[in-house]
Amino acid sequence: MSSYAGKKAVVTGGTHGIGMAVVRALLDGGAEVLLTGLNEKNVEAARAALGPRAHVLRSDAASLADIDALGKAVEDTLGEVDFVFVNVGHVRFGSLGQVTEEAYDAMFDTNTKGAFFTAQRLAPLIRDGGSFVFTTAAVAGTAFVGTSAGTGMKAAIRAFSKVFASELLPRNIRVNTVSPGFTQTPSMGLVDITDEQRALNQREGERATPMRRFGTPEEVAAAVLFLGFDATFTNGVDLPVDGGLAQGLEYPHDEVAEH
Ligand SMILES: NC(=O)c1ccc[n+]([C@@H]2O[C@H](COP(=O)([O-])OP(=O)(O)OC[C@H]3O[C@@H](n4cnc5c(N)ncnc54)[C@H](OP(=O)(O)O)[C@@H]3O)[C@@H](O)[C@H]2O)c1
Repeated sequence: MSSYAGKKAVVTGGTHGIGMAVVRALLDGGAEVLLTGLNEKNVEAARAALGPRAHVLRSDAASLADIDALGKAVEDTLGEVDFVFVNVGHVRFGSLGQVTEEAYDAMFDTNTKGAFFTAQRLAPLIRDGGSFVFTTAAVAGTAFVGTSAGTGMKAAIRAFSKVFASELLPRNIRVNTVSPGFTQTPSMGLVDITDEQRALNQREGERATPMRRFGTPEEVAAAVLFLGFDATFTNGVDLPVDGGLAQGLEYPHDEVAEH
């Protein structure tokens, strides 16, 4: 694992879950990190928990004014940066007949529009040899019932980030994506779900994942940091961290396992 001493990084959606695991690994390695979140309590808790090399900013990924303010804060606090992790996101379940315009817009504004314009605002601040990683989702390569809008918005991030990888080649900036499968975070990547739906998601996630368990935020963070810092000849790829979910692996049935 690299040491991040002297490195400067931005993590959007860093107040808990996968983003926080990346923030903690960067800080432990000696980096200076500017991280964002939306919920005021979570922002305050992150400020209290993290040390002086962490700068916590309340910033709504769905707001272009906030994205511009984020850019200014990065300029003022860090100057040029080595790494930007564009991680904010969440999915709302709903099948074709159920997704409302409001739910669709909320998902696309926060995840897709937010990621696009965050990249536009922060790309000029990344130094030569730096990199972007975007969070998409393993569902972007699958066809689970009830995830059409979520799959669409994550697939869009995967698609446009690959074009960014081409466009940023002359500046020697790499762009890759990470696709988590079911990951044990406070939200499990979902909003507006009941406790029963949460329990169902837990059961279904364990059943559907070939490795028969959820991943940890730290397992996803390790892949993010590999792409961000160590994978210096890897560009434009998507790295699934999903226990085999989107790879078509199949847990052996008892009868098959006996042979
Ligand atoms: N967990 C999974 O199973 C899973 C699976 C596939 C993909 N993913 C993806 O992985 C990423 C992280 O998910 P997670 O499970 O770690 O989620 P999480 O624990 O809920 O963390 C989400 C982060 O995003 C922030 N956030 C949410 N809306 C925001 C907004 N409008 N503006 C700024 N920040 C905002 C949250 O901050 P506050 O709450 O403090 O506002 C928090 O820091 C997401 O893109 C998600 O879609 C997760």
